[in-house]
Order: sequence, then structure tokens, then C-alpha cells
Amino acid sequence: MCGIIGYVGKKAAAPILLEALRRLQYRGYDSAGIAVLSDDGRLTVRKKVGKLDDGLARLVQDQPVTGHLGIGHTRWATHGPPSDENSHPHLDQSGKIAVVHNGVIENCDRLKERFLKAGHIFRSATDTEVLAHLIGDHYDRQPRANGQPASLTQAVCDALREVIGTYGIAVISSEHPGLIIGARRGSPLIIGIGDNENFLTSDSNAIVAHTRQVVFLNDYDVATVTAERFDVQNLGADTAKVQISRLEFASEEAERGAYSHFMLKEIFEQPRAVENALRGRIDFEAATARFGGLNMTVAELRSIERIVIGATGTSWHAALVGEYLIEQLAHLPVEVEFSHEFSTRNAPLQRDTVLLVLSQSGETADTLGALREAKRRGHRALSIINVVGSTIARESDGGIYMHAGPEIGVASTKAFVSTLTILSLLAVHLGRMRMLSAAQATEILRALEAAPAQLQSILAQDAAINKLALKYASADDFFFLGRGYTYPIALEGALKLKEISYIHAEGYSAAEMKHGPIALIDPKTPVVFVIPQDSMYEKTLANLAMIRARRGPIIALATEGDTQIQNVADDVFYLPKTLEPIYPILAAVPLQLLAYHIAVSRGCDVDKPRNLAKSVTVQ
Ligand code: F6R
Repeated sequence: MCGIIGYVGKKAAAPILLEALRRLQYRGYDSAGIAVLSDDGRLTVRKKVGKLDDGLARLVQDQPVTGHLGIGHTRWATHGPPSDENSHPHLDQSGKIAVVHNGVIENCDRLKERFLKAGHIFRSATDTEVLAHLIGDHYDRQPRANGQPASLTQAVCDALREVIGTYGIAVISSEHPGLIIGARRGSPLIIGIGDNENFLTSDSNAIVAHTRQVVFLNDYDVATVTAERFDVQNLGADTAKVQISRLEFASEEAERGAYSHFMLKEIFEQPRAVENALRGRIDFEAATARFGGLNMTVAELRSIERIVIGATGTSWHAALVGEYLIEQLAHLPVEVEFSHEFSTRNAPLQRDTVLLVLSQSGETADTLGALREAKRRGHRALSIINVVGSTIARESDGGIYMHAGPEIGVASTKAFVSTLTILSLLAVHLGRMRMLSAAQATEILRALEAAPAQLQSILAQDAAINKLALKYASADDFFFLGRGYTYPIALEGALKLKEISYIHAEGYSAAEMKHGPIALIDPKTPVVFVIPQDSMYEKTLANLAMIRARRGPIIALATEGDTQIQNVADDVFYLPKTLEPIYPILAAVPLQLLAYHIAVSRGCDVDKPRNLAKSVTVQ
């Protein structure tokens, strides 16, 4: 989704802003822009629809901008279609104030009406331009002593008090050549602290090459940033809570290296992602897992009666696997909800229900909404998150970090497998407080420990999956089927394929096909069966026979040594043998590679698929 960068310091601002915008591209965007303030207070805006290198970067090359302070933005359209006019930054009525904004101003129509009546002229269809006018209006209304400029911080605070909605913003003014104002509510904003230079950004990936020292702003914080210092005030409290944190990851982790795409790099990083998720969390002596950040005593964990897992997209598929894991290993009732449905449908929750939210980014607005709703109702809310310091991580009562490293490809891969790993550990942890025997738990922990090497052996067969992909790449429709633990993997396989290759793909429980979707099976519709040798094997085999009888081409993901499957499938990819609850971790990977190679062969932009955003910060 949209990305924000702000810079103030001694260096030329434009190259720093453009480089940061390049690092924000992975989030998904349709246009980009910058506003730079020269040292003598000239405000210049450059903005362009389309890809950064073909659009904005070229424009800035042709029409350079100079100055040591500026703001930049990648836009993912919400109000108004992608166009040069709708791109950010937007100016106020006077043309002196420039604003970039992530989020949605819900009362923008009413505010716009007010300004139209006052004769303001709007050049775009965006809510952000209305916000710029609102800030400018408050700025102009301030009394000025002896020709002194008004306070930009005050104008921003006054304007935001009138705003309904969500925002992360950066604001500059030609009357304040050394100053950037940042503010957030519901949309992330971070101050990056440099040496005689400071940054504002919505995503630490944009500034990690410059600094690791950051302050994660909280909702209603307003930051006044110069090259030498920053001050933070909070619109809702007497004082703001300011804590300087250190970013963990190295900047090279956000580089593509020799891989042709970030997605491929991240698929290949999965053995390490699983190792990182397991590191320090297995206790073989007690046959259990341990976590540092759950912030719950053993007695509290034992008193949980029910877990609701909230998530969206790929994380929701991980949640479905979590349901199987926790129900089967800990005998605790689990319900999986889309975060957006959970926060709006007012589900009755018994007292000892805990909400567990899953989110790679830790910024998904729907999931943040679910977390806040559960907390508002007095329930404990835990999270499994990748991005350290993200809003959901900070607002959770307790949580577990994935430590998967930055995930840049829009389609989630390593975070998914990492979440499955942590859910397996969590199920063991909860199970050992209930009915899971030491022997059963040890078996699972050993299988988890073996998973990284097994994933390596799957990745070593990438060429075979590529061959398979080329064979089926021209299909218009795909089905992905599984049962039990691998049913959510079928859903995830279908999602991966549709989002990056734009092929229509559906995931179902293999058992559900006969209840309707089987009508769509024909010789042109490949069906991927995830059919390891687990407790569902025979039943899935029967479901497979129904597809075969209707001449659907069958690709099977089966277990090494399964000779029977070769007789009934057109193509087979073999997974190493593991325990039933661990197959999802292994089976996810060939499906990611299948989707990746199909998308590449169809010429799709796999890292930045059309219409998609990396972290969805609007509800
Ligand atoms: C799909 C994908 C999305 C995300 C979803 C939730 O590949 O990446 O479906 O999984 O938007 O995002 P997080 O996990 O950041 O909350």
C-alpha cells in the first residue's frame, strides 16, 4: 500500500527520497511523487503516475529539484483513480504547504464542501488534498506576531482534531525550510534518527540503509522533526510515550542478491525461516516449546477455554492449519475468523476466550481492528507477527515474533511457513499443559527440527517444478484440493497462483468437490491434489478417482515411496516423509514454486502483482 518518506539533513534530498521510494515499491503502488524545499524556501513538487523508474525518476532527471528537505510518497489509489493529479504530495490552497498521506479521511466530503463554499480550488479527487487544505486553513487562521510564520505543528494538530479516519502523514511548508511534521492514527509512521539528519517513514525498509535507530510513533502522536532533533506530542494525552528502538535486520536482507525476484529469494529462505522460528524455543528435556513474549503464566494459559484466531489472506490460511494443530494437540476449541468479520459481527465470546491474531506485516488494518475489538471487550489478545515494532505487535498483550526477516515480495511465502512453524510449537506448548504426552510432543518437536533439511531437499528439485509449471502454464483454471491439515494448503496454493499469475484458481477440501464444483472439471482444468500419506490418504484417493473419472489432469503432491499415486496422477511431486501435522510446512513450498514459475512463464510481475499491496492498511 501507500508509502511515506521524509528527509531533513545536509544531503541532497531528492536522491534520498527516490531511493527510499524504490525500497517502498514492494508494498504495491500506482504512482509516486516528491516535494522538495530549497534552502531559500522554494517548494517544488514532482509527481507521476506509473512505475517509479519510468515515471517519477525520469521526470526528476529531466526537471531536477534541489534542497535538503523533502517528502515523498508511493500511492495505492483509494480516492480517485491513479493519475498524475491524484498522486501525492498535495498542496493546500496557498500552495505553501505540501502533504503526503496514507489512510482514509472519512469526513473528507463534508470538509471539501466547506472549502468549496469558501472558494478553494481542488486539483485532485483525493481525500489527501482536502487534508492539505484543512491544514493550510488552520495555518492561515493563526495570529502572527511581527510577521513571524505561524506554527506548522499547531496547524497540523488543529486540523487533525477535525479529522475522522486514519492517517499517517508528513507535512512541509515553504515558510519552515528546516521542518517536517509527521502524525499518525491507524497508519504506521516511524522517525529514523540519523547523524545531523532525520527521517520519517511508514516502513523501516525505506530507511534501514541510513539508520537503525527509530521511534515508532503511536496513534495521535504528532512529531516535529528537524535535522538536529525531534519532538513528539500526543493529541490525546499530556505527554507522548517516546521510546528509541533499534531495527534488527541488516539492509542486505532487503536486497534481492542473485535471485531474479524477491519472491524466489524468500521461497529459498524458508529453511532458514523455519530454523529462526524454532531457535531457542524447543525444550527437549520438558518435551515442550517455550516462548518469551506471551506474557501469560502457566495458570493463565491453562485456564484458556477457547481460542479465536483472526487473520486475513495467507495468514488466514495459516490460521486454519493452526485450528487443526491446537485442536488436535491441545484439545482446545479453536475458531478461525477473518479479522474483518470478527471485528464487525459482534460474536458472543465466553470469558476465557483468547484472541490470537496472525499477521506478517503487523499493520493489516482489518486485523488491527479485530485485536482492538477483542481488547475492548476485555479479552486477552496475542499475536504472531513478523515485523518487529509494528502496530499489532505493540498493541498485543503478548506475542511471538517470527524472525523471518523482511518479506518484500507482495505474495507472502516465508512468513506463511514461519507462522505454521510457530503455530506447531504453540500447539505443543498448550498441549503439554493439557493432554499431550511427552512422547507425542517429542516426536513433533523432532519432526519440526528435521523440517529445514527437508525443505532444502524440496528446493533442490526446483527445476522439476519449473518443468511441471511450463507444462500447465497455459491453463485458464486450476483447482487445488486437500483434506485435513492439507486443506488450508490447497487454499493457499490457489491463492498464490491467482495473485501472481492471474489464472483463475480455486482451493477446496477434496471432499467438497463432489458437492458442486466437480461440475467444472474437464480435460483443460488441472487439479492439484495435496495428498501426503496421512490419516486422510485413502479418503483423498477416493476423491481423486472422481476427478480422474471426469478426465481432469491431476498433479499430485504425495509422500516419497507412494507408488500407488503414480498410477492415478498425471504428474507427481514427492514430499519427504514427516508427521501429519508437519506436512503443511513441507507441502506449501512446491505450491509456491509452481505458482512462481507459472507466473514468470506468463510474463507476470511476480513481486508486484497488479492491484495488490504488501500491507493492507485500510479496512
Ligand atoms: C497473500 C498475501 C495477503 C496477506 C494478507 C494479510 O500472498 O500476502 O493475503 O497474507 O493481506 O497480511 P498480513 O499477514 O501482513 O496481516
